[in-house]
Amino acid sequence: MIEVKELTKRYGNKTAVDRISFSAGAGEILGILGPNGAGKTSTMRMLTGFMPPTDGSATLDGFDIVADSMEVRRRVGYMPERVPLYPDMTVEEYVRFWAKLRGVRRPQKSIEAVLDRVQLLDRRRSLVRSLSKGLKQRLGLAQTLVHNPKVIILDEPTIGIDPQQVIEVRAAVRDLAHNHTVLFSTHILSEAEQVCDRVIILNQGRIVAEGTPAELRQKLYPGDSVFVQIGGVGHAKPEKTLRGINGVKQVQKLAGGYALEAVAGRDIRADVVKRIQQAGWTLLELRPVAVTLEDIFLKIVSREDAEEQAE
Ligand SMILES: Nc1ncnc2c1ncn2[C@@H]1O[C@H](COP(=O)(O)OP(=O)(O)O)[C@@H](O)[C@H]1O
Ligand SMILES: [Mg+2]
Repeated sequence: MIEVKELTKRYGNKTAVDRISFSAGAGEILGILGPNGAGKTSTMRMLTGFMPPTDGSATLDGFDIVADSMEVRRRVGYMPERVPLYPDMTVEEYVRFWAKLRGVRRPQKSIEAVLDRVQLLDRRRSLVRSLSKGLKQRLGLAQTLVHNPKVIILDEPTIGIDPQQVIEVRAAVRDLAHNHTVLFSTHILSEAEQVCDRVIILNQGRIVAEGTPAELRQKLYPGDSVFVQIGGVGHAKPEKTLRGINGVKQVQKLAGGYALEAVAGRDIRADVVKRIQQAGWTLLELRPVAVTLEDIFLKIVSREDAEEQAE
C-alpha cells in the first residue's frame, strides 16, 4: 500500500530526511518512532502528496506522490501535529466542511458515520471551542476519516492530551487498522509497542532500526530490567551486592532506587527478593522497568559511534 524508496528532504542545506526506504502493507499499522527533529513530520508530509521530496520516490496504492499527487491526496487522511480547528463551528459543521473539501458524496451519511466512530455523535451541535483537548483530537480524527481514505497518516496524535484520552486515541487507532493502512508517529517506545504492528526508528533523518516492537526490544534489550527500592540500608552501598545477584548484568542507580538489567531470558525477581532479605534490608518496591526510546537511542547511537570509530 505504501512503498518508499530513497526518499529525501532537504531544507536549504539541512537534510531532514536522508534516503529512507520502507513499505507498509494493507491493513498494517506502521510506527515511525524518533525523537524531535528526527524527520517524522517531513516524511509524513511528503507522503500526503502536499510537500514534494527533494529526491527519491514513493507510491501510495500504486500512485506516485509527485506525478499523481491528486490521486494520492484522495486516498490519504492526514492528521497533522497541530490540527487546525475552527472554534466557532459546531462539531458537525466542521466535519461537513472537510467532507465538502474532500468531495465526499452523500456527505450527511458519512458525517454521521464518522462522528459515531469517534464517539462524538452526541456532541455534534457543540461548538468546537467548548471541546476538551482529547475531544478535539477525536474531532481531528473524524476530519481525517471522513472521505474513507485507504491510508491514514497520524502525526504524534497523543501529544498533549491526558492519560485517559491517550488510551482512547490509541484504541481508536488500533480499530482503524481493520480497514486502513495507518502510519503513526510517536517518540514513545511503549506507545509504538502498544499501537503498531511494525516500527521504523528514525534518527537524524535516517532509519536506524526496523522490526516489530518485540523484535526491536529483543534485539536491543534482550534482558528485562526491574526497578527496586530498598529500605534499611543505612550507610551500606547496595550496588555491589545487587550486581552480585545471579542473572544480573548491570546495575544503575536511579532517583529513589536501582535498575537491574537481567541477562537475556532470565527472570531475576525471585533471586533479587531473596538477596535483599539476606542482606537484612527491606524491599519497598519491585517492578518491571519499561525501556524508553531514549534508552534504545543511546544504545543504537553509541553502537553506531563505536562502529564508525572502528572503521
Ligand atoms: N520548513 C522547514 N525549514 C527548515 N528546516 C526544517 C523545516 N521543517 C523541519 N525542519 C528541520 O528538519 C528536521 C526534521 O524535522 P521534522 O520533520 O519536523 O522532525 P520530527 O517531526 O521528527 O520532529 C529538523 O531538524 C527540523 O528543524
Ligand atoms: Mg514532528
